[in-house]
Amino acid sequence: MIPYVELKTQFKAIETEIRAAIDTVLESGWFILGEQVRAFEQEFAAYLGVEHAVGVASGTDAIHLALRAAGVGPGDEVITAPNTCVPTVCGIAASGATPTLADVDPGTLTLDPAKLDAAITPRTRAIVPVHLYGHPCDMDPILEVARQHNLIVVEDCAQAHGARYKGALCGTFGHAAAFSFYPTKNLGAYGDGGAVSTSDAQIAEQVRRLRNYGEEHRYHHTVEGFNSRLDEIQAAVLRVKLPHLDAWNAARVRLAGAYGEALAETSVATPHLAPWALPNHHLYVVRTRHRDALQAQLKELGIGTLIHYPVPIHLQGAYSHLGLQRGAFPVAEQACGEVLSLPMYPELQPDAIPIIARAIADFRP
Ligand SMILES: Cc1ncc(COP(=O)(O)O)c(C=O)c1O
Repeated sequence: MIPYVELKTQFKAIETEIRAAIDTVLESGWFILGEQVRAFEQEFAAYLGVEHAVGVASGTDAIHLALRAAGVGPGDEVITAPNTCVPTVCGIAASGATPTLADVDPGTLTLDPAKLDAAITPRTRAIVPVHLYGHPCDMDPILEVARQHNLIVVEDCAQAHGARYKGALCGTFGHAAAFSFYPTKNLGAYGDGGAVSTSDAQIAEQVRRLRNYGEEHRYHHTVEGFNSRLDEIQAAVLRVKLPHLDAWNAARVRLAGAYGEALAETSVATPHLAPWALPNHHLYVVRTRHRDALQAQLKELGIGTLIHYPVPIHLQGAYSHLGLQRGAFPVAEQACGEVLSLPMYPELQPDAIPIIARAIADFRP
């Protein structure tokens, strides 16, 4: 049995530190917006090399609150990719803006800068590029389009902790960026969590207010807000894990290299790596026209896989009101029918890879 993902081995490796960190919070008697959150925010901002990180309750809320803090709201349109995880669009919609879509590059499966112009209308206010699977978007031309049209850019970094574009970390390019600390992320809490990173002091301050009922100072509220806080226990867990992030990502890079070699002679297409990208390999996604049959075959052999994601945003029932039909975004639609995520986590044993590759090589549709 090779599970798709497995979090217990990592926990066992850091168990003593994790239990001590959680204990510190329990002993402190302080659970919301305290020392752990403050310290994690500083440490995460320092890791990224930005001025501010603000802990919030989830990656979805990070997108929502970053957009809202940047002044995006009802009547505005926000462009993102059709093949993203649904919460990207949940976050956009929560701001009051209307999500709109632009097709992706057939190689990287991230926003195709050449498709942005056609998606821009007089109401377009922001772009949310998604560094999908941990492969960075081609940020320079995206930022150039944003500059030309005076648009806000909020990077969706839910899958991109530690990934780099032209040497710089994802999460440092836009007006703000949104991170998720969902447990399976490259930097994952033991529950929900998220953060907004930014070097814009006004955006940071506004997210701080919005996450805490719009409070300016105690019981004085200057903006209608929400309850969306990273809690002290999750922040304490993340402080233990952050120093390991680069080593865990390096293990993923090694595993991706081994997958690439082992799968070279098989019928599946291995992930495209753009020359300017240093992905964090959050997911290892291969492509085949026989995806569903291959997934079923691997399941029979005890090899876990998942599909990220089988249905593009515009073909989800929840977004039928966008009025977009099949055929609107052919690159994303084709990818949704072909992508298959293989097991990928730092603790995956390297000897699992030849076993998975052999199973794929033996597959006959
Ligand atoms: C691309 C992307 N955006 C946003 C999110 C939302 O993050 P969360 O689950 O923490 O709300 C996720 C993760 O689930 C994601 O993968």
